[in-house]
Amino acid sequence: MTETTARARLDQLWARGCAFLGTRTAVMGGAMSWVSERHLVAAISNAGGFGVLACGSMPPDALAAEIAATKALTDKPFGVNLINMHPDLNRLLDVCREQAVGHVVIAGGFPSSATLARIKDGGAKAMAFAPTLASGRRMVKLGADALVIEGTEAGGHIGPVSTTVLAQEILPDLREAPVFVAGGIGRGEAIVAYLELGASGVQVGTRFVCATESIAHPNFKKSFIRASARDAQASVQLDPRFPVIPVRALANAGSAAFLEFQRTVIARVDGGELTRDEGLLEIEHFWAGALRRAVIDGDVEFGSLMAGQSVGLVTREQPVADILAELIAQAETALAGRHGVGASLTSSVPDRAMASPSVLGAV
Ligand SMILES: Cc1cc2nc3c(=O)[nH]c(=O)nc-3n(C[C@H](O)[C@H](O)[C@H](O)COP(=O)(O)O)c2cc1C
Repeated sequence: MTETTARARLDQLWARGCAFLGTRTAVMGGAMSWVSERHLVAAISNAGGFGVLACGSMPPDALAAEIAATKALTDKPFGVNLINMHPDLNRLLDVCREQAVGHVVIAGGFPSSATLARIKDGGAKAMAFAPTLASGRRMVKLGADALVIEGTEAGGHIGPVSTTVLAQEILPDLREAPVFVAGGIGRGEAIVAYLELGASGVQVGTRFVCATESIAHPNFKKSFIRASARDAQASVQLDPRFPVIPVRALANAGSAAFLEFQRTVIARVDGGELTRDEGLLEIEHFWAGALRRAVIDGDVEFGSLMAGQSVGLVTREQPVADILAELIAQAETALAGRHGVGASLTSSVPDRAMASPSVLGAV
């Protein structure tokens, strides 16, 4: 039995993810609209992680400028996150091709095979979100090169299932493409747990919001530092006739007002003052521009404070490199402790990530 250090073991566990991303650590900085711009993205990539630019509702010209500006700050790999229902999706994909972006992540719904083909024809790797094992398999068949599974603990738009359950449902079975786990990850020990279950890497959002390099308004950062996990609440839908896509954010005056607003709109529809479609539109528009108001202008009362439950683990402003170093140190301690020999352990431990020689060959 050869001796290997905890770091070497960690590197084995996330080898597939690192190879896919082209990084030293398989920690993706989850794209966060308004927050994940050039500075945070470049800082994450420079520190050995994988920054992802959030396109959000940006028009193509703005995305092109942001990609170019990020390249000026880092020569390391980074990705671009595009929202599937963006009205200019194809032009955004062209921008990614022109700028030789290496990885494109499609969020906000399943990308079509045409979208995936357009990404890959442009020379980039395509990533998609998978809320179930079956949809993950379908995405890979359609052309996705890797998947992100994101649990309900995450900040922003969320699905209904917890990260731990999604991970158990998907990771042991879906081996045909690298899978990155997102939602509720705030410590390195959790990263190890998902890697040992078969993940190739992780995606972390909330934990990076208060990075020194993050341009989020000081008020936004203060709200994160003060908040505990239970403050990060999913938005509530009052009436199934008026569906609300759940968003996890810190509760504030805006989220309370949203409930009251829904009540008023529903009463106006029931009273015949508005049609159902008009009411739906009013409810959909309630949060328009609200994330920008909070992140950029610092309106933490009525803006949207999108945050995951791991906000409880955000205790101070820290440079990205320190956040990553902390996560890695915790992961190493977990690995060393688990196998009982200080900072070293034996390589006889079952090795999922390296079990199949085809695994690394596939990326
Ligand atoms: C403020 C904020 C904005 C976000 N915006 C986006 C987005 O534009 N696109 C996207 O795919 N995910 C978005 N997310 C989700 C993150 O990319 C990431 O998957 C999530 O934060 C991971 O969970 P965690 O917050 O528990 O770490 C956002 C999350 C936050 C907190």
